[in-house]
Amino acid sequence: MKFFVDSADVPAIKELNDLGMVDGVTTNPSLILKSGRDILEVTREICALVAGPVSAEVVALTANEMIAEGRKLAEIAENITVKVPLTWDGLKACKVLSGEGKMVNVTLCFSVNQAILAAKAGATFISPFVGRLDDINMDGMELISDIRQVYDNYGYETQILAASIRTANHITQAALIGADVVTAPPAVIKAMVSHPLTDKGLEQFMKDWAKTGQKIL
Ligand code: G3P
Repeated sequence: MKFFVDSADVPAIKELNDLGMVDGVTTNPSLILKSGRDILEVTREICALVAGPVSAEVVALTANEMIAEGRKLAEIAENITVKVPLTWDGLKACKVLSGEGKMVNVTLCFSVNQAILAAKAGATFISPFVGRLDDINMDGMELISDIRQVYDNYGYETQILAASIRTANHITQAALIGADVVTAPPAVIKAMVSHPLTDKGLEQFMKDWAKTGQKIL
């Protein structure tokens, strides 16, 4: 499973990237707002840092304008993935931009039918939002599982990019289902390391080591 960082926070992306954990990055208008940076400038910086796909989202609502914005974003770097919303216009833009050889991430996916349409329109990635479905008392992970089954039934090559990931457990579940990619905020990726038995075990080792009176260095 590939790991994307869902953030436009360059130092946070760099910390994970230096550990070899980053296969790509996803951003969206809310994350650009949070970063306080200019979209073109911060996206260029991220693209220079990370070798894998970096999603930059269009903000237009009509297909022609999305295509124009997508072309401009794609000029930033070779590893740009143009992110378009799962609307009819977004699908039209996906078809055109993917036809030009650009990577396209179709975002705001909340149903299997939407995911089928995105695959048909040539999406490189489909982004089903797990946490936002959980927020309205639906089962976000069930959507990942259903899309996996349908894509496998028909050999669709669009990669399932599990998004709106809120917990480390979401990452475990997405991996078990076989999502191709998970995009998560840096804090959620870092939370994956935590286990109470690791903390407890380390504490005991430290206590016992102190009693030996020895030193390694
Ligand atoms: O990748 C999409 C993601 O940023 C949305 O996450 O937590 O705002 O639902 P969230």
